[in-house]
Amino acid sequence: MLLGVNIDHIATLREARKINDPDPLEAVFIAKRAGADQITIHLREDRRHIHDSDVIRILESSALPLNIECSINPNIIDSILKLSPNRITLVPENRQEVTTEGGLDVVQHFDRIAEITQALKQNCIEVSLFIDTQIDQICASKEVGAQMVELHTGAYANLYAMLNSNLSRSHHVIESLNLPRSTLKTHLQDSIASLQDGAKEAKWLGLEVAAGHGLNYHNLAPILAIPEVMELNIGQSIIARSIFTGLESAIKDMVALIKSS
Ligand code: PXP
Repeated sequence: MLLGVNIDHIATLREARKINDPDPLEAVFIAKRAGADQITIHLREDRRHIHDSDVIRILESSALPLNIECSINPNIIDSILKLSPNRITLVPENRQEVTTEGGLDVVQHFDRIAEITQALKQNCIEVSLFIDTQIDQICASKEVGAQMVELHTGAYANLYAMLNSNLSRSHHVIESLNLPRSTLKTHLQDSIASLQDGAKEAKWLGLEVAAGHGLNYHNLAPILAIPEVMELNIGQSIIARSIFTGLESAIKDMVALIKSS
C-alpha cells in the first residue's frame, strides 16, 4: 500500500500570512525522508492554498511523484496541461466548500471528463477520478478512459468519528446527531461494505484503486484491509499531528501504520 501525503495545509498556513513560510517544497523533502511514496496537492480554482509556482517548484525538485487534484474547469485544465505532473485526480470543486465534498459525478459530466482524460493521457499524465462508490460512477470512470479511481472515504470517516468521538464537528455529524448508535453502526458497516464492493468492481474493470479523505491514525484499519486498494492519500490528520510531533515523525507514524497491515 502506497502513501500519498497531501500537503495543502502547509500552504494554507503560509497563506494565512501571505508570506513564504512554511514552504510546501520543504514538506516534499521531509515526506521523502519519512518514506512517503507521493505528494498530493489540490490546485484550486481560487488558488486558496497551493499556487502554480508551488507545482513548478515541486516538479522541478523531482523528489517524489506528484498527484494534482483539480476540477474539470477549462482554465484549470489548461494550466495543468502546461505544468505536466505525473498524475491528475479530477475532483468536484465548489468555491464555498471547506474541503472536497462528495465524489465527482462522472455520469453527469461524462463527455467533458472523457475529453479531459484524453487530453491528459496524450500528454502522458495519468488520470484518476475521485468518486463515490456507486457502480455507475465506477463503470463511467472506466468508459471515459481513466486509469485509476480514488474512492471517497469521507462518509466512512464521518461515521467513524460519530461513533468514536462526541467532539466531531463535521457537518455530516451534526445532521445525524439524533440517530441511535445502533443505526450509526449499521451505516458504518454499510459504508465499509460499499468501499469493499466498489474497490472490487473497479479492480475487476482494470482500474487501479486508491482511497482518501478523512483518513487518520485511528480509522485506517478497515481501509487497509481492502486488498484492491493500493494507495491512500492523506492530508489533514498528518499535518495536524505534525504540529505537535514534527512533520517527519507524523509521516513516519502513518507509514508504519500502513506497513503494519
Ligand atoms: N483525496 C482527495 C481527492 C482529496 O480531495 C483530499 C482532500 O484534499 C484528500 C484525499 C485528503 O483528505 P484529508 O485531508 O481529509 O486526509
